[in-house]
Amino acid sequence: PSKGLKDYYDKYFPIGVAVSPYSIKNPKESALILKEFNSLTPENAMKMAPIHPEENRYNWKDADSIVAFAQVHGLRVRGHNLCWHEQTPKWLFYDQQGKLVTKEILLKRLKDHIFTVVNRYKGKIYAWDVVNEAIDDDSTKFLRNSLWYQICGEDFIFKAFEYAHEADPKAVLFYNDYNTERPEKRERVYKLLKKLVDAKVPINAVGLQAHWSLDEPTQKDLITTIERFSSLGLKVQITELDMSVYPWEKNRRDLRPGESDTYTPEAEQKQADQYAMVFKVFRQYKSVVSGVTFWNISDKHTWLDEYPVKGRKNYPLLFDQNLQPKKAYQSVVAF
Ligand code: G3I
Repeated sequence: PSKGLKDYYDKYFPIGVAVSPYSIKNPKESALILKEFNSLTPENAMKMAPIHPEENRYNWKDADSIVAFAQVHGLRVRGHNLCWHEQTPKWLFYDQQGKLVTKEILLKRLKDHIFTVVNRYKGKIYAWDVVNEAIDDDSTKFLRNSLWYQICGEDFIFKAFEYAHEADPKAVLFYNDYNTERPEKRERVYKLLKKLVDAKVPINAVGLQAHWSLDEPTQKDLITTIERFSSLGLKVQITELDMSVYPWEKNRRDLRPGESDTYTPEAEQKQADQYAMVFKVFRQYKSVVSGVTFWNISDKHTWLDEYPVKGRKNYPLLFDQNLQPKKAYQSVVAF
């Protein structure tokens, strides 16, 4: 039996992958998952809108199926996520009259949600992304002006960690965000983490989402981020790794849907080199990096096909659309 990523990395950290209920039911994909990975993150199934669509109704089916698959096969599970500004159900922030609820009511709803979800999977989910993406996209601002923030101020962040810890004192609790290697974002994330640590909030770790590209981050920025966050005594995980083959600046522009494929052999090689570089850093920091999770299995399905425009195919992962290992796979396991 040939080795998978998890075997190459067994002396370093678990290697995870984001999954849907469909991927674990698909025989080819589930076989690949079991060969290569030893950790799962539900890509969408545990987010608040899908799992808690109405105040008195939870929809456990998809999340349960992923946790059951992990239990049967001995994989660990990261819970994603408990508090976010996206994929949040409509009922959460409003009362019967359609007016915004008070801070007391919103925190009560957050607490009920966290207690119910965390408690259901206690002992089966070892880590939770408690708060996701609370920092503003505007580099001159600090916290994102979400409804969470408008109603609760920064308290929702503190409370979310307290509730999660109360619900499962053994769970490893994460703050999770993107673009954390960019100096301006890094410093704002650091400021938030430091506030939480100084206030003795039960936070254990920080997730670098790692939605990267062929030329970002640089090795220096990646190392600086890992060192800066871990200086607070926090572990670091790579929680949503993928590597767009389009440069970020181009990603940001208004591309036409269907704009054609630019996955040239040069781009494929550059991607393999960039994957080699980041994994070398992860190995070097193995005492801090406690896991690396890819944001999907193969180039067959990736959120980057929909973002920033629908209909432009992207190739950000280690396996191609036929689930075959790419050059980037070889570069990650050759060390
Ligand atoms: O399930 C519904 C379906 O019922 C509906 O008919 C259909 C119509 O649009 O939408 C389906 O939901 C979609 C969902 O994925 C499941 O496929 C949503 O529209 C779509 O927006 C959603 O996208 C997810 C996105 O988060 C939401 O913001 C992506 O799959 C998921 O990969 C992405 O993941 C996020 C992380 O959670 C946080 N960090 C960034 C990362 C990438 O955006």
